[in-house]
Amino acid sequence: MSAIESVRLSGLALLQRVERFFDAFFGAAANPWRHLGALGFYFLWIALATGIYLFIVLDTGIEDIHTAIEYYTHQQWWLGGVIRSLHRYAADGLVLAMLLHLARELLYGRYHSFRWYSWITGVPVLWLVYASGIGGYWLVWDQLGLFSAVASAEWFDWLPIFSDPAARNFQPGILNDRFFSLLVFLHIGIPLLLLLALWVHIQRVSQSDVFPARALGFGTLGMLLALALVKPTVSHGKAELTHLPELLHIDWYYLFIHPLMYATSPAGLWALVGLATLLLLALPLLPHPRQAPLAVVNPPNCNGCRRCFVDCPYGAIAMAPHPDKPGHELARVIPELCASCGICAGACPSSTPFRSVDTLLTGIDMPQQPVGALREEMQRKIAALAGPVKIAVFGCDCAADARRLQGADTAVLNLMCTGLLPPSFVEYALRGGADGVLVSGCREGSCAYRFGTRWTEERLAGRREPHLRPTVPAERLRIHWADGHELSSLKAALEEFRQNLQSFGADEKRLRPYTPRRIAQHG
Ligand code: HEM
Ligand code: SF4
Ligand code: SF4
Repeated sequence: MSAIESVRLSGLALLQRVERFFDAFFGAAANPWRHLGALGFYFLWIALATGIYLFIVLDTGIEDIHTAIEYYTHQQWWLGGVIRSLHRYAADGLVLAMLLHLARELLYGRYHSFRWYSWITGVPVLWLVYASGIGGYWLVWDQLGLFSAVASAEWFDWLPIFSDPAARNFQPGILNDRFFSLLVFLHIGIPLLLLLALWVHIQRVSQSDVFPARALGFGTLGMLLALALVKPTVSHGKAELTHLPELLHIDWYYLFIHPLMYATSPAGLWALVGLATLLLLALPLLPHPRQAPLAVVNPPNCNGCRRCFVDCPYGAIAMAPHPDKPGHELARVIPELCASCGICAGACPSSTPFRSVDTLLTGIDMPQQPVGALREEMQRKIAALAGPVKIAVFGCDCAADARRLQGADTAVLNLMCTGLLPPSFVEYALRGGADGVLVSGCREGSCAYRFGTRWTEERLAGRREPHLRPTVPAERLRIHWADGHELSSLKAALEEFRQNLQSFGADEKRLRPYTPRRIAQHG
């Protein structure tokens, strides 16, 4: 393992501890760390809504804008002032959510293979967020806005794009309402471009997480409102083209690039920003694990039920008329979108191990871990179990390593993603000799394939098709989510489960045994 990879994994373990800590207070559904993309969108919506209000009520001429903003900030603080502060703090929140989202995706290693698209389309979003925010400061037309506008112009003047230096526009007599209207136009146009870029950004994730859960949404809005009331946004003095301000209160979320430029040089800042952008764009090209084989449809076993189509986290399945079954559809995998997660195989009704066929072929399968091979492995491992309480564990390659639980009385089947587990396998394991089944995988929001955890939980709880039959005694099934660093918690859950099972009578809450045809034949 390279040094960089081990740093990433240590950072990931730390992040997952933080996420788990927040889970305890917010629950996974409203944990801000697990929904940073949705929070980013939320901040953007607030900034857009408040921005539209401010645009309507403010007089945006160069002479009047500062006075108008001062009026709303101080005289009408209870409405205009609050909305101005909401606009400013939502814009800051957008930067914070975006940078944390980027760092999180990086630590989770989500920047290569099929994710190259989401990663690469995220990079222009960074630029557009900064361009939108910095432009907003100019419109206030106070000393900070003037400083930012001049600094930005000096920065761009280093590029050979303008015949006359743009910084020259900021002189008495030259700067007029027309130029200022251009700034207003930019501050409306760039956020619209940002929206478009974000729409492109989420094109390859299905059912994307763009709205935070209600509790997270209300909590965030409440926090912004509290900030707006406790520390309202105020302007500096009106911009004076003739003399420089002595003291400026910089918004470090956006305007840090100006002090950075004066501490280096315009060329130095271009080099830094260019290098960072190139580095981000090049990340997907760095050596990374090869993409695993893609899902494969088996037409005779597909009846067009659409479950794989609905459950695929990356919109990688399309439905077309079935060539051999009139009136039915057939699933088709779109190769460039497939993440090789196997969640579709777990969704397919043909994946049930109870089918009395020697070779279990399902409607959609993963060549590297076919459902038929899983059934055979399970039969073999459960048949070999010994001891008073026999447990079958379904683990996940991306989560706490369940293989470490393997023992004489514990059969472990590790899946590429827990979402590959057809729920009927739980019943099959119980009827085939296991006293209990433990299902494990990444925590909600940590799943490498977005929905593996959620769909599995819903299928096992009977809220999603294919569901676990209600006749399966709940006492004999344990679900325990544990991220990579939580092996000890998984071990403890297994022990506790074993003790619970031990306390039952031998036949209490037990399903009628099922003898698979092949075992009967061979045995
Ligand atoms: C304000 C800016 C951004 C917003 C609002 C945003 C929003 C989102 C959303 C809503 C998703 C879908 C999450 C889901 O449903 O699971 C997503 C995915 C993703 N974003 Fe962003 N994003 C932003 C910037 C970025 C940046 C700058 C990068 C990196 C350069 C990035 C990288 C990714 C990646 C790699 C995914 C795919 C995650 C996966 O496949 O599980 N995003 N983003
Ligand atoms: S393997 Fe995953 S990404 Fe590919 S088609 Fe199946 S569910 Fe979709
Ligand atoms: S879940 Fe199975 S049967 Fe249903 S459409 Fe997909 S491949 Fe076909």
